[in-house]
Amino acid sequence: MTDVVGDMTNRLLADAGIGAGMRVLDVGCGPGDVSFRVAKLVGEQGQVVGVDRDARPLAAARDRARELGLSNMTFAEGDLGALAPEHGLFDAIVGRRVLMYQADAAAAVKSLSRALRPGGLVVFQEHDTTMVPASVKPLPLHERTHQWTWGTVEREGADIHMGFHLASVLEQAGLTVVSVRAEAVVQTPQTRYRTAAIVRAMLPRILQQGVATEAEIDVDTLEERLVEERTQANATYISDMVFGAWARKPA
Ligand SMILES: C[S@@+](CC[C@H](N)C(=O)[O-])C[C@H]1O[C@@H](n2cnc3c(N)ncnc32)[C@H](O)[C@@H]1O
Repeated sequence: MTDVVGDMTNRLLADAGIGAGMRVLDVGCGPGDVSFRVAKLVGEQGQVVGVDRDARPLAAARDRARELGLSNMTFAEGDLGALAPEHGLFDAIVGRRVLMYQADAAAAVKSLSRALRPGGLVVFQEHDTTMVPASVKPLPLHERTHQWTWGTVEREGADIHMGFHLASVLEQAGLTVVSVRAEAVVQTPQTRYRTAAIVRAMLPRILQQGVATEAEIDVDTLEERLVEERTQANATYISDMVFGAWARKPA
């Protein structure tokens, strides 16, 4: 099973110009999936700092860096709106699925850009549900599954239209937008996606928000039922739209 969104992240980071020797901050890094992709691009001469307000995923990120012997990666607990000055200046600030959780995303990026050198790069990747789920043929279980996950994220207070807002957020933060893109996650009867794994990971949150019951979801058989539905309908389904954008701090 390929990591479709991860591949999009790799392309976005490389196209935006994250490269050898750069010092990069990953905000809302969680367990560090984006941080480790950045580390590959910046190489041994570069440096990666991940920041997250939740201590639990940071421990996993630190363990992985240690296992890989990457001494140029550090992970710090803190709010991205109150970055500790000792982190210094960065060549680039990146983040994925994090602006959607900020009450005022433009203010958050503006405050972050103080830690960016003049001419430095800002790269964000954010999901957006405005155009999804999409399919020509009806796929009721796929639509319900989408509602379980994104309905939960929305009830938690996230902006599920952040992709469409991305360009204006970067501009309002005082940055010069260089490029904006949107890519789709396309599923067919032949493809396999990690929908059930995502629902399983989100299950406590879904139940807490009262979006669905455990019996309705039946997570152990979910992937099988989804594949069966796409196969029966011989349908193509778009589950996610993923926006990517990069901008520069005026020199
Ligand atoms: C959906 S997860 C994404 C994790 C990671 N960026 C990735 O794409 O794999 C969002 C992360 O952002 C963090 N986060 C959200 N708002 C934050 C803030 N204001 N300051 C620091 N971390 C924040 C959360 O704790 C969570 O780990």
